[in-house]
Amino acid sequence: MTPLRLTRTLLATALAAVLSTAAQAQNDKIKIGLMLPYTGTYAALGTAIENGFRLYLDENGGKLAGREVEFFKVDDESDPAKAPENANKLVKRDQVDVLVGTVHSGVAMGMAKVAKDTNTLLIVPNAGADAITGPLCAPNIFRTSFTNWQPAYAMGLVAAEKFKHKTAVTLTWKYAAGDESVRGFKEGFESKGGKVIKELSLPFPNVEFQALLTEIAALKPDAVYVFFAGGGAVKFVKDYAAAGLKDKIPLYGAGFLTDGTLEAQGEAANGLFTTLHYADDLPLIKDKAFRFAYAKTYKLQPDVYAVQGYDAAQLLAAGLKAAGGDIKKRDAVVQGMRTAKIDSPRGMFTMSKAHNPIQDIYLRKVDNKMNRSVSIAVKQLEDPARGCKM
Ligand code: PHB
Repeated sequence: MTPLRLTRTLLATALAAVLSTAAQAQNDKIKIGLMLPYTGTYAALGTAIENGFRLYLDENGGKLAGREVEFFKVDDESDPAKAPENANKLVKRDQVDVLVGTVHSGVAMGMAKVAKDTNTLLIVPNAGADAITGPLCAPNIFRTSFTNWQPAYAMGLVAAEKFKHKTAVTLTWKYAAGDESVRGFKEGFESKGGKVIKELSLPFPNVEFQALLTEIAALKPDAVYVFFAGGGAVKFVKDYAAAGLKDKIPLYGAGFLTDGTLEAQGEAANGLFTTLHYADDLPLIKDKAFRFAYAKTYKLQPDVYAVQGYDAAQLLAAGLKAAGGDIKKRDAVVQGMRTAKIDSPRGMFTMSKAHNPIQDIYLRKVDNKMNRSVSIAVKQLEDPARGCKM
């Protein structure tokens, strides 16, 4: 072979290799690591998130922006101590392209650390830990849910301004989500002249509420604000009513208190006011279609967690689309996600600079097993993203 022909052959071989790698990247399935609670007090929340995510896929021929997907799943058990190992399993063993999770703030912070250390794309479909889009914010970390501050701050404003309460007692599980929720409520409530007179708590996920309810009865505040969710929220709302407090001291909460829980809470939840970025009767075409499709597919009513899972899939699809379907083109994926306008069942939302939804927070009232929207408590509320440098 002449030197010229040899060079030509080598060039052709190299080109073919590059083209085939590119084609491979286009053909490989997008590997999605779902790290969610499938057991424990938040089990139903994890399932709803996965259902929502899969519903978006179903609506798009099983694909995300034209790409096939493959799921890898871990039950995180809402246990922060196991978070690094669980997240690393997905990233290092299964080599996922993107991590999607989770519900519990403490676990999500562990995931965020792994995502940062390994530069893995992370989409948080629930956990509200303020730090994730605060001091821990990063180009590869996004959230399709809320910060713990958002609904809580709105409830603080509403409790003082609309309901004219002067004093409140707070009660929550003692961990990041509860602490931040109480802090957000207090900020809103006290900025309008209210006073939190006592902050009560118990360890996550305990449900021994009796002594705390006795203490609340003795303190006689104008109002009680709580953060509970999942199985714990079901028990708390029932215990509050059974203790005879419901008609004496109005109970408020971030909307998780009554979301995905109403069947089990029954009459005990009726009439409760909460604030959240979703309600069950929004006058939106998108939401009506979503609720119909979800109920048809899963024989279950959707809740806020299902919406957040659905939107996690929508957000990832927006990023992939911007990158021509190539998840490895990280800058393009991130740019597509940052600038996405998500047509969510909750209403349109965009991402803040810290990658957290800027969204309306609704005041809702439980009526006949539905969280009905009463008003918009705060329009287009953006988390202050304290400590985020990006
Ligand atoms: C959280 O830990 O951030 C959390 C858990 C359950 C919720 C909301 C927030 O419903």
